[in-house]
Amino acid sequence: MTRPFFERIARAAIEKKSPIVLALDPRPSANQRLPEIAARTICAVEHHVCAVKMNFHIILPLSASEISAINKLAHSFGLQSIADIKLNDIETTNAVAVDHLTNMGFDAAIANPFIGGDALASLVQKAHKADAGIIALVYMSHPEAKEGFGLEIQGRKLYKMFLGRAAAAGVDGIVVGATQHEILKEVAGRLPVYSPGVGAQGGDAEQAIRNGANYLIIGRSIVGSRQPVKAAREIQNRISSIGK
Ligand code: XMP
Repeated sequence: MTRPFFERIARAAIEKKSPIVLALDPRPSANQRLPEIAARTICAVEHHVCAVKMNFHIILPLSASEISAINKLAHSFGLQSIADIKLNDIETTNAVAVDHLTNMGFDAAIANPFIGGDALASLVQKAHKADAGIIALVYMSHPEAKEGFGLEIQGRKLYKMFLGRAAAAGVDGIVVGATQHEILKEVAGRLPVYSPGVGAQGGDAEQAIRNGANYLIIGRSIVGSRQPVKAAREIQNRISSIGK
């Protein structure tokens, strides 16, 4: 049987010597084609990342076969692939989404625990049966995240409830923004932590790792750079000695 997603990505991070998840968010100019930019970017930076993450930049405009080809390419380099569509729907719809995503070759999907504990647990079971993982949002990276994840309800912070739901549901990891220093420190060590928000959103790679992030989700600092390979390598080198 295939290893679970959380083990596959941990192994990829060791093999690539990098905890960087590349947010493949290309913004093509008029004469460029998305599938080609995606392929070129993966081929260029594959030595410096352990996974790719795709969101609506790619999943909305491309066909299922184009996305499958990108996932095949990522897998050919030993990279895992994560669909960042922040699943947040009723059980049956979430299940259909998991079927489509796994058919396209994704290894994991990001989901919103707002759907409730039982719905999240059912989603995790569905994904695990398909050898895929679920990563749950706990606290997003953007400044307005406090208007949702930071709400206090009946004396408890919503993000703490989400963390409890995520752990009880058996998720493969959680998302906490690299910009949320105190929350990152607070939740670190319980489940694998994926941190977006490095660079373009103001978070710092080294600090996020020191605060307890296991994986860094990085987009514009790499894909928007004039020299993506150099940018990825520099971040990889900066964090490589932390904790050793
Ligand atoms: P940048 O360019 O800011 O890209 O490095 C970050 C990528 O991550 C996504 N993103 C998030 N995804 N929870 C998520 O699941 C978050 O809190 C979050 N913040 C950013 C963003 O869509 C982009 O692909």
